[in-house]
Amino acid sequence: MAEISLGPRPYAVPTPLWIIGTYDREGNPDAMAAAWAGIANSEPPCVVVGVRSSRKTYENILENRCFTINVPNTTLAPQADYFGIESGREEKGKFEKAGLTPGRAGKINAPYVREFPLHLECRLADRMTMGSHVVIIGQILDVVADESVLDEKGRPDIKKIDPVIFAPVMQAYFGVGENIGKAFEIGKEFKDKKDPE
Ligand SMILES: Cc1cc2nc3c(=O)[nH]c(=O)nc-3n(C[C@H](O)[C@H](O)[C@H](O)COP(=O)(O)O)c2cc1C
Repeated sequence: MAEISLGPRPYAVPTPLWIIGTYDREGNPDAMAAAWAGIANSEPPCVVVGVRSSRKTYENILENRCFTINVPNTTLAPQADYFGIESGREEKGKFEKAGLTPGRAGKINAPYVREFPLHLECRLADRMTMGSHVVIIGQILDVVADESVLDEKGRPDIKKIDPVIFAPVMQAYFGVGENIGKAFEIGKEFKDKKDPE
């Protein structure tokens, strides 16, 4: 196997495509695409997102100390992409232009995307400037899902949600592939392996 060093780049693949929902000072809803994002902690449940300080969203997060994380499905990928190419600084009606509806989150002062299957309601817990981006930690206060995307035990089902997966290097969107095995289980064959005598 020939290994080639590509240098220090943000090249881990894939990332999610999340939409951060915020209100500006006048109460206008804004939504921005974020791919530098993930789950950061279990107890308390937290997300991490990297947001440039130039984004209107960043200003809004500091103003209200909260935000929603909205998970788009593949059908609404073009609308989600749009949220990543126009700023709320220039366009106050991003939701209207995308043909999507802002709902008011139940636990925080932030909008969510009604048409998306799942959203998280987060309070700003911490932030740290890394360089190009500010790393924002949001504590998840509630998770709200459309009933149709829950499994028989009431948990979010990835196939039903049909989330958008982002490949940063290729700058392309993908859907979810096949289930290839059960986590914490398929590795057991190695754990249980006996040392050769
Ligand atoms: C696929 C995709 C991923 C993006 N990821 C991020 C990100 O993680 N952090 C960021 O600051 N901007 C990211 N952007 C750019 C912002 O979404 C974009 O600048 C947006 O217009 C900002 O909106 P706002 O100024 O209304 O907040 C991304 C854009 C796209 C299309």
